[in-house]
Amino acid sequence: MSFRARHLLGIDHLKPAEIVTLLDLAEEYVALNRRTVKHSDVLAGLTQINMFFENSTRTQSSFELAGKRLGADVMNMSMQTSSVKKGETLIDTALTLNAMQPDLLVVRHPNSGAVNLLAEKVNCAVINAGDGRHEHPTQALLDALTIRRAKGRLQRLTIAICGDIAHSRVARSNLILLGKMENRIRLIGPSTLMPAGVKDMGVELYEDMREGLTGADVVMMLRLQRERMDGGFIPSEREYFHRWGLDAEKLALAAPDAIVMHPGPMNRGVEIDGTIADDINRSVIQDQVEMGVAVRMAALDLLARNLRAERGAKASGVMV
Ligand code: NCD
Repeated sequence: MSFRARHLLGIDHLKPAEIVTLLDLAEEYVALNRRTVKHSDVLAGLTQINMFFENSTRTQSSFELAGKRLGADVMNMSMQTSSVKKGETLIDTALTLNAMQPDLLVVRHPNSGAVNLLAEKVNCAVINAGDGRHEHPTQALLDALTIRRAKGRLQRLTIAICGDIAHSRVARSNLILLGKMENRIRLIGPSTLMPAGVKDMGVELYEDMREGLTGADVVMMLRLQRERMDGGFIPSEREYFHRWGLDAEKLALAAPDAIVMHPGPMNRGVEIDGTIADDINRSVIQDQVEMGVAVRMAALDLLARNLRAERGAKASGVMV
């Protein structure tokens, strides 16, 4: 099997072959999830703990369903009411949970790098469900699966990522993944919302959305991450929609069969016109949600296989 990772902390450390392995396995879970009885026991006996230090609708419920459909014992820690509120550090919380012998830990945290730090302190597999503006690997993987299914390939596509790139871990993970797969990537948005050093990333930059969208095969819209902004990055929401919001007129410049994506949560009328988001001929936003469950099942499955192999090897004194 060509998936060797112990944790899934980012796309950065995955090889293209590992990405393909994960997406191929996710396809099998798409089929399982479309059956009436959606159950497998590949994680039976394992404990999965979801720790979300930031609000989440899609990602948390998706990881919960994924673990349950694979037969794991799944626990959701409510970090809003946990001892974190009493001042406990991330590491102390992690060590406490580690003592309960989890096998899979799914973590979302507002600080970039927090999940990597935590992974060093525990002896189970860790999945990053989004850390600050750093990475959100399962989002990029579910986006990749959605694109591959809609376009029949994951290479040689022109992909426009639009909006608040600077604060977006979704954009970062997607940039890395789609770059590894040899696509042409365009970043579109106001210069105030472009990350530093973006010019060295091998991407094309556009401030003019009409230019940036011309001929694109995939249009990926992003939310304005107001919770990560500490000042005025945009003139006004009205002006923002006018210049960088996706509407029918701007979308008409993209390839005739271009697909529209959004990781959610969406702000209709700010970065995307509601009718486009709901247009089943263009928008694959609901497919992204469906692929999310399958991709997370594949990630949990692959990490559990590696964990078992590592523990088995340790028990018999063999180095892996
Ligand atoms: C994204 C996130 O949390 O990074 N949402 C998600 O995981 N579906 C994007 C966002 O919050 O805008």
